[in-house]
Amino acid sequence: LQSHFTLPSGDKIPSVALGVWQASQGEVGNAVKVALASGYKHIDGAWAYRNEQEVGQAIRESKVNRSDIWLTSKLWNNFHAPEDVEAALDDSLQKLGTEYLDLYIIHWPIAFKKEGNNIYDAELSEDPYPTWKKLEEMVDKGKVRNIGISNFNIRRIQNLTANHLKYQPAVNQVELNFWNPQPELLKWSKENGLLLEAYSPLGSTKQVKQSLQVPQVQKIAKELDITPAQVLISWAVQRGTIVLPKSVTPSRVEENLQISALPTELFDELEAAAAAHPPQRVVNPSKGWGLDFDIFED
Ligand code: A2P
Repeated sequence: LQSHFTLPSGDKIPSVALGVWQASQGEVGNAVKVALASGYKHIDGAWAYRNEQEVGQAIRESKVNRSDIWLTSKLWNNFHAPEDVEAALDDSLQKLGTEYLDLYIIHWPIAFKKEGNNIYDAELSEDPYPTWKKLEEMVDKGKVRNIGISNFNIRRIQNLTANHLKYQPAVNQVELNFWNPQPELLKWSKENGLLLEAYSPLGSTKQVKQSLQVPQVQKIAKELDITPAQVLISWAVQRGTIVLPKSVTPSRVEENLQISALPTELFDELEAAAAAHPPQRVVNPSKGWGLDFDIFED
């Protein structure tokens, strides 16, 4: 399986990252240290995960060269206004204790007003180009190497890329797992040269148990003498996506980096099983944010 994917900038992004969403303060630092000690070169974080300070400290304490690590963060919904983008980025840089990010992503295609509790900003949500232009400026300033998007559906991507972009989105980070494999989005993204990053690849906290018990996953794990989690993480990379498994358990952090190619027959079997049931999204904050539409629907 490929250890890296190449982005439009020419940068090579490591296929497997430690995901730190829901890795709480007090435990995330150790997970990062274990990850870096066991060979991870990629940490996928975000300002909104509220753990950047501890992530940054763990990276420094691990004594790995900054240039040997791929570090991603994400711009939160309250800071999409062009005049707020740089300060939001600077806050992440400062918390992480680094001078640049390898990748900075628009966390959601939903903008909120800066102040207040989730006050929807329709204009900036429906036209993310002003936000994007500011991100392009951050690339030119050297504060970020690559810029991307997250949770964008095809309509929203096209709405952005219809503008004359200086830099195309390097990735789209979306939920991809056995329950929500999104084959159409994956096919479209490949055809359009947009790399997907799979978050909640094990189905997140809510669905991880069920994911690991899927009969096809169990069968493949036995045949290849690997763990069910390794089957799902390998499958993600074999599908042509970056994968971001989250764990704060040292043995699992180590386990999740050991991926191996599934024989074509078994890969196809798992792909078919994933597509055989109605898609079930594990993560969808639309209602929680009081929106009167579904972020993922057209
Ligand atoms: P924990 O962090 O307590 O180790 P996802 O990557 O889809 O978001 O899933 C994260 C969930 O899966 C967490 O609850 C995490 O638990 C659990 N998990 C991560 N890796 C493994 C593994 N190799 N085996 C079993 N559970 C795992």
